[in-house]
Amino acid sequence: MLEKVKQLLAEVNSFVAKDAEELEQFRIKFLGKKGLMNDLFADFKNVPNDQKKDFGQSLNELKQTIQQKLEEGKNSFAKSSKTTSDMDLSMPVAEDAIGSRHPLSLVKNEIVEIFNRIGFTLSEGPEIEDDWHNFTALNLAEEHPARDMQDTYIIQTNPDILLRTHTSSVQVRYMENNTPPIRTLSPGRVYRNEAISARAHCIFHQVEGLYIDENVSFADLKQVLLYFAKEMFGDKTEIRLRPSYFPFTEPSAEVDVSCNICSGKGCNVCKYTGYLEILGCGMVDPNVLKNCNIDPEKYSGFAFGMGIERIAMLKYQVNDLRLFFENDVRFLNQFKSSL
Ligand code: DAH
Repeated sequence: MLEKVKQLLAEVNSFVAKDAEELEQFRIKFLGKKGLMNDLFADFKNVPNDQKKDFGQSLNELKQTIQQKLEEGKNSFAKSSKTTSDMDLSMPVAEDAIGSRHPLSLVKNEIVEIFNRIGFTLSEGPEIEDDWHNFTALNLAEEHPARDMQDTYIIQTNPDILLRTHTSSVQVRYMENNTPPIRTLSPGRVYRNEAISARAHCIFHQVEGLYIDENVSFADLKQVLLYFAKEMFGDKTEIRLRPSYFPFTEPSAEVDVSCNICSGKGCNVCKYTGYLEILGCGMVDPNVLKNCNIDPEKYSGFAFGMGIERIAMLKYQVNDLRLFFENDVRFLNQFKSSL
């Protein structure tokens, strides 16, 4: 008797139903009114007393296994046997979550677009740079103290190779490969060994601008920057230039725009100065032109560089730079736009 139960258990265990019909046959065979299980339970009284315990346990095991098989079969056929008549074809399609452009891309695109309108082309350079393009050609000789202003990631095995600290390196590459007149804009990622905080990050983005031609003057630079500021921050925006120092420009200036939150009256965003700093600029140093095989006697030009994060923070009043890198969709969803 016990042998028979064991045989049936093996049979049940190896059973796989091909379809719902076969599963039903299986159920009838074992659990139907005239099924094997009922026969076996009926036989129980004929089993000698000392075997009743073992027999009972085996029977229960067999029954549980059969029920498990039926359950599994039912589930798999329920999933696959749905026909179109079981579905509500008039139900609306679940809405797809539509992504949005990253705010840094939006701002970059807008900057590029503004300068495109006055004839600036787009150029790019590598993020892994050599010393010449990032420093030396830009008038930062090896021992130049201004190299310390930018905490540089250098490749340990080859100190000539580094992660570019600014997009000014693209200026050099562009001048090396093109002849004036030059009007180009170079957006890209830059790297500095900075502690990450609300105001600084070790990876950020810049846009570099370069304009070289005959008779380019500081007045041209001012006019281009005023045009940019008005397009970017609104028609009432004013700019202010403060004398500054960059090794690659002479003279150099830092540019502020009037605070678009308080309209220059003073608030806590502009720290009650009425102005916000947006970029560095100047007339390209003749040494840089020479380094790039452009004759400084014939040509002059201006350059400027700005941080995309900084512009985005001012434009959208974001007070923590880290938000741009965390990619929290609750933040990103606030920038849905068509640009
Ligand atoms: N490269 C500078 C920086 O990363 C920004 C800059 C300043 C770029 C003046 C320029 C410039 O082209 O003329 O801080």
